Amino acid sequence: MKKVTVSAPGKLMLFGEHAVVYNHPCIVTSINERIYLTAEITNFQNFELQAPEVGITNYTKNINGLGKGKIPKGAKFVEIAVKNVFEKYSLKNGIKITTQSDFSSEFGFGSSSASTVCTVKAVSELFKLNLSNKDIFEVSYKTVLDIQNKGSGFDVAAAAYGGTLYFLTEGKIIEALPYSLPNLVVGYSGIKADTVTLINSVKDLFNSNPKMVEGIYESIELLTNSAKNEILLKHWQLLGTLMNENHKLLCALGVSIPRLDEMIEQAVNAGAYGAKLSGAGGGDCMIALSPKEKTKDVENAIINAGGKILKVKMHTEGVKVE
Ligand code: MEV
Repeated sequence: MKKVTVSAPGKLMLFGEHAVVYNHPCIVTSINERIYLTAEITNFQNFELQAPEVGITNYTKNINGLGKGKIPKGAKFVEIAVKNVFEKYSLKNGIKITTQSDFSSEFGFGSSSASTVCTVKAVSELFKLNLSNKDIFEVSYKTVLDIQNKGSGFDVAAAAYGGTLYFLTEGKIIEALPYSLPNLVVGYSGIKADTVTLINSVKDLFNSNPKMVEGIYESIELLTNSAKNEILLKHWQLLGTLMNENHKLLCALGVSIPRLDEMIEQAVNAGAYGAKLSGAGGGDCMIALSPKEKTKDVENAIINAGGKILKVKMHTEGVKVE
């Protein structure tokens, strides 16, 4: 095969953010916003990248120079993913890659991990490596760590496996849950958050008060494990209560902001079973679980609190050939 197009989904964190960085579980679902990537083998010993949505046009580098010198932000994940998968499987050919995105990197849906996973999958297809989802996860997670040195890998797992996952740090457990939550409303705060900055601020809090923060992580783990059971039992009301509790613990970690708190409070006042921030905090999105008949009210409440409703479907397919 000389040319292939693949796609991978973005993600939404349901329970367990931050604690999952430190050996506690989380629950994540993949969404219908996808990254598409076309890759072809070329006769030149070059890596070529077109990623116009992140400001990259006609970016070219010799295969032997991958990972060296200055790499523009928008090219990092794809370039380092090619470097890692080429090194691991002793490949040297030229490769030309074009990416296209359904979604803006603004919302915190995980476009970097989805591009990384797409890159590894495309190389696997082009060179008939037959990589499993776990193999794709390993190389992709290494890539993310090489670049940002932080992160649990949950977003990489969502992009590779799809569906809804119970996930333990570094992929020590990746367990598929049968379905996701019905009537989950997603509200965007309008504020772009930086995950690494938030992970660092939680780390500072841990350094100044390890006992308190470890206690919070343990409580988040208990909630996440209960949430897994309630999802399996379809106890949505109880699940909503767990979301509210999870949000309080995230507030105690200092990662929420007034806009998110307001959106969450108003969603609950309008009849949601529960609501919480989703992801690193500091902005990005919140989620509210709503009874079907209250969904419109909950959406309006979030809008009135300054949010924007994002219509996303959950529990979608993982990385695949188009
Ligand atoms: C960010 O969306 C979620 C965090 O738990 C980071 C991670 O797990 O990599 C804060």
